[in-house]
Amino acid sequence: MTASLKGFPHYMLKEIYDQPEAIRNAFRGRLIHEEATAKLGGLNMSPQELLRIERIQIIGCGSARHAGIVGEYLIESLAHIPAEVEFSSEFRYKNSPLDRHTVVFAVSQSGETADTLAAVKEAKRKGLKVLGICNRVGSSIARETEGGVFMHAGPEIAVAATKSFSSQVLIFSLLALLLGRLRYLSAREGHEIVEAIEALPDQVAEVIKLDSQVKELARKYVQSRRFLLFGRQFQYGVALEGALKIKEISYCCAEGNPSAELKHGIIALIDKSTPSIFLCPKDGVYDKNISNMEEIKARGGPIIAIATENDDQVAKIADEVLYIPKAPEYLTPLLTIIPLQLFAYHLAIFLGRDVDKPRNLAKSVTVE
Ligand code: G6P
Repeated sequence: MTASLKGFPHYMLKEIYDQPEAIRNAFRGRLIHEEATAKLGGLNMSPQELLRIERIQIIGCGSARHAGIVGEYLIESLAHIPAEVEFSSEFRYKNSPLDRHTVVFAVSQSGETADTLAAVKEAKRKGLKVLGICNRVGSSIARETEGGVFMHAGPEIAVAATKSFSSQVLIFSLLALLLGRLRYLSAREGHEIVEAIEALPDQVAEVIKLDSQVKELARKYVQSRRFLLFGRQFQYGVALEGALKIKEISYCCAEGNPSAELKHGIIALIDKSTPSIFLCPKDGVYDKNISNMEEIKARGGPIIAIATENDDQVAKIADEVLYIPKAPEYLTPLLTIIPLQLFAYHLAIFLGRDVDKPRNLAKSVTVE
């Protein structure tokens, strides 16, 4: 083990608590106030080259792919560049029509995931520029890519990814800021983003204080063996990631969905023993989420909501509400993911699971 537990009972909990620092390390030295932009020297690309990017293809597995999904929304909304996310395992065998103005971003904490490494090689074979977002310096993917952004999150020991997900999302926000400032974002908008990013470590620390409240929720719902998670737009990737955390370490069924898919089948699963976890911060789709929650309530399904502070409306519908501080919607995934990680952790502990080394899973999957 290369990192100490620092008094925490498990690495996963320690790494959840590491997140304010991991986020700070991901943006340290990379924000330029005077120019209201980000500097990502490791990309090894001039502003002219960055301007020529017409499309971004993101590849990854597990949590890294989920971070990529949040990244897709960040890049499209802040930089107006079409972005797409694909499972590395699908991308490697797919004949995607990508042209030379496409840049591929391979996301991998370990830098050793076999499917992602193979996908990187396939993209290179097609003459594409491939960059990495990795934590491990000197790893295979970091070496195989032409450049990229290191996460500097420190070692992640627990099998279930936590701080690496946050770090990857933060890096996508830097990338979106950089590409956006070269295109559509004004200096004023750039400044707002820089300031919002810098406020994140304290906001994340604030959300971590929900720990004991989340623990009580996990105790209350420990008998539930399946959970439905819902989120839209920036929260969709968070719903997927939260469901993955629950599956990986508690072995309960959990499914992440875009909220509006409720009516396309999922609603048949709603009953009083199936809690729905709703990511419904005050954002552009808030009202839509509220009406989905009402549909669930009308069918007797328990609702746990993660909402923005001072939101009274949610409390009238949901059975439980966890409040997070207000942040721009494109950065809110970094806040909403925290209660989900804590919930999965406490649920797993109450169920007596081996949190840091869940059955059948490996930290890094180096075989196909
Ligand atoms: C495994 C781990 C996941 C991780 C995924 C991708 O499945 O259990 O936690 O998200 O691999 O790993 P990477 O190192 O490429 O980010």
